Amino acid sequence: MTIKPVFADATPLAHLPDDRAFLEDVLAGFAKPQKTLPAKYFYDAVGSDLFEQITRLPEYYPTRTELGILDMRGAEIAAALPRGAALVEFGSGSTVKVRRLLRHMPDLAAYVPVDVSETFLRSEAAALQGDHPALRIAPIAADFTQPFALPHDLGDAPRAGFFPGSTIGNFEPTEAGRLLRQFGDVLGEGATLVVGVDLVKDAAVLEAAYDDAAGVTAAFNLNLLTRIDRDLSGTFAAAAFAHRAVFNRAASRIEMHLVSRADQTVTVAGHAFAFAEGETIHTENSYKYTLDGFRALAAEAGWSPVTVWTDPERLFSVHALRLG
Ligand code: AVJ
Repeated sequence: MTIKPVFADATPLAHLPDDRAFLEDVLAGFAKPQKTLPAKYFYDAVGSDLFEQITRLPEYYPTRTELGILDMRGAEIAAALPRGAALVEFGSGSTVKVRRLLRHMPDLAAYVPVDVSETFLRSEAAALQGDHPALRIAPIAADFTQPFALPHDLGDAPRAGFFPGSTIGNFEPTEAGRLLRQFGDVLGEGATLVVGVDLVKDAAVLEAAYDDAAGVTAAFNLNLLTRIDRDLSGTFAAAAFAHRAVFNRAASRIEMHLVSRADQTVTVAGHAFAFAEGETIHTENSYKYTLDGFRALAAEAGWSPVTVWTDPERLFSVHALRLG
């Protein structure tokens, strides 16, 4: 057996498939007049940890408000789902939210968590099984934005879907509609879907939620540049950029940007990019809906409104929809 030498100063990792896709996305995003980076690259180990911290910030109301709705209305939400259903969670991540429904659904036929991270999926499924020994858990390692098949032995159990966290807000409205239609294709006619959707509100409340006083969201945004430096041999100095969050009311979305603090040239895997002082990289959109606006989007994708639950301040909504 031969051992390949490793050169400490060689361009590291850029040949690995994940990094190749990352590099292609970075080069394509930086070639646009308004430079962009896809939000999915936020979630490396550091970014995932920072996001966990974001969900506990005083300014970041979505996570605790949605959990509050699920706690207060869990029984009603569960009752909107058919008895003996197979419940599919799109992008399950941790099982904190679905637990609020499972405690009211003793006769569930199966829980089907779907997530790209197979390791996380397995550890979360094992933990949940420990707390619900009788529940059938059938995890699927898949990218929920692409079509995938449900386990064939679910039989004729009625289908239900769960998509919390306002993850839907990260998609352009046309893409969000396409995704809802795709969920319908996976679940089938007559299915019920429960979706968490963040609501339009005062710009100051929204902007504080995405630009907290402790600077955690700033660190989360700037970590993208640190990640480019590490994984793609970039020469960004994260300190040469500033975090900015603005509510674009016309487009009904929070936009996150990284603002260049000076005229500067940065290279990524040998490709040079010039940034003028004040020029931005657009890193994320988080769309906010009205109750009617979201119902209209869902209706376009074939889903009829059943019930909607909100918190007393109307910060966040949880919709139950039926296909057909
Ligand atoms: C995970 C997409 C719901 O948009 O609120 C939080 C991501 N970005 N703070 C959101 C996020 C900055 C979050 N989602």
